[in-house]
Amino acid sequence: MIATVRGARKLEGDLRLPGDKSISHRALICGAVARGRSRLSGLSPGDDVESTKRCLAALGSEYDGEFLNGVGLHGLHASAGRLDCGNSGTTMRLLAGLLAGQDFVSSLSGDDSLSRRPMDRVVDPLRLMGAQASWPPLKVGGSSRLTGIEYAMPIASAQVKSAILLAGLYSDGKTAVVEPFPTRNHSELMLSTMGADVSVSGLRVEVSQAVALEPLDIAIPGDFSAAAFWLVAAGLLHGSRVRLLSVGVNPTRTAFADVLRACGVRITESNPRLAGSEPVADLLVEPASGLRPIVLREGMAAAMIDELPALAVAATQIPGKTVIAGAAELRVKESDRLSAIETGLLAMGADISSTDDGWIINGPRFLEGAKVSSRGDHRVAMALAVAGLMADGKTEIDGAECVDISYPGFFDDLEYLC
Ligand code: S3P
Repeated sequence: MIATVRGARKLEGDLRLPGDKSISHRALICGAVARGRSRLSGLSPGDDVESTKRCLAALGSEYDGEFLNGVGLHGLHASAGRLDCGNSGTTMRLLAGLLAGQDFVSSLSGDDSLSRRPMDRVVDPLRLMGAQASWPPLKVGGSSRLTGIEYAMPIASAQVKSAILLAGLYSDGKTAVVEPFPTRNHSELMLSTMGADVSVSGLRVEVSQAVALEPLDIAIPGDFSAAAFWLVAAGLLHGSRVRLLSVGVNPTRTAFADVLRACGVRITESNPRLAGSEPVADLLVEPASGLRPIVLREGMAAAMIDELPALAVAATQIPGKTVIAGAAELRVKESDRLSAIETGLLAMGADISSTDDGWIINGPRFLEGAKVSSRGDHRVAMALAVAGLMADGKTEIDGAECVDISYPGFFDDLEYLC
């Protein structure tokens, strides 16, 4: 599908975002092995979370639109066929951790993009724990016992951290991971809420072997990573005023809002509350009256890894030279995001060049509508759509249907806000 986006003067309206993708995956995966039924509302409607539901159903835990039947830590059964994780790295990596501790073998597969993504980052630590695990193709589980380890993670990845913690529930003693930089902590919060023994000290997270997990009752907050696109569009188009309702504002996710605030964009939080252990608020976004250059400190890229495509778009409109570094991980996402965003924004007239681990962007530049490609990557499609809102004329995004991975109503919301 080709989506056409025209330059907009301003964005206005109140919006409810899709449920947070990261929290949705975790609620399903942890809930599947809880003792009893969990109530989960507001799950992400995206294809990635459908992949997780499908895999768990094949393993014996069904979600019926409101309740998930938890079968207990040892109640899953082998799937009749391979577990198809679709496009979802989170599904594949978190399930690898959960399934490493089962006494049956599971094979996990995915689409072309997922088949190209690195899985040694989960296989290596799982093997250190005594799991049977191999890749490619990914096979895990079937060993008698896992043993807790202390693992210094070579890269910052919440997916890898979560996979190890899930395997840790099945491992003798204690399992600890030490991150190089902080990443989203949804797994730690959720497992604690469910009664697991989790302790956090700085960058070190430790979990003990578990006997049982209590079921969940959670309304999943709106996805901050989806909000990011509107924070940029409404924050940079003069005269805009957008209210984003019930957004997850866990501080391990919101570094991007802090960066935009430091540039002058007005983002105001109101009505703060909790969904389970997750902080939620409404966000009002209004444009900056004057824009200051973007400043990123070392290690910040990991804290806003999914928002970096949107940040690159913002940087084309903000005065000064923006240097985004420490983001080599973007090369191994659903697409090579460093290259996809560079190509798309160059076609629109931006001054951007990619480096090994980021971009250098000089702004502000007038953007012109152009024909661009999503490369099948949802965050690239949405970032280029936001660039299209700020450009003169018409931007045509090829392969735009991939927004369904995390945000099926994205283009409807765009039209509503314009
Ligand atoms: C996620 C972690 C991040 C992020 C992805 C979701 C998660 O991936 O990019 O969209 O839910 O744990 P990495 O763990 O590869 O950094």
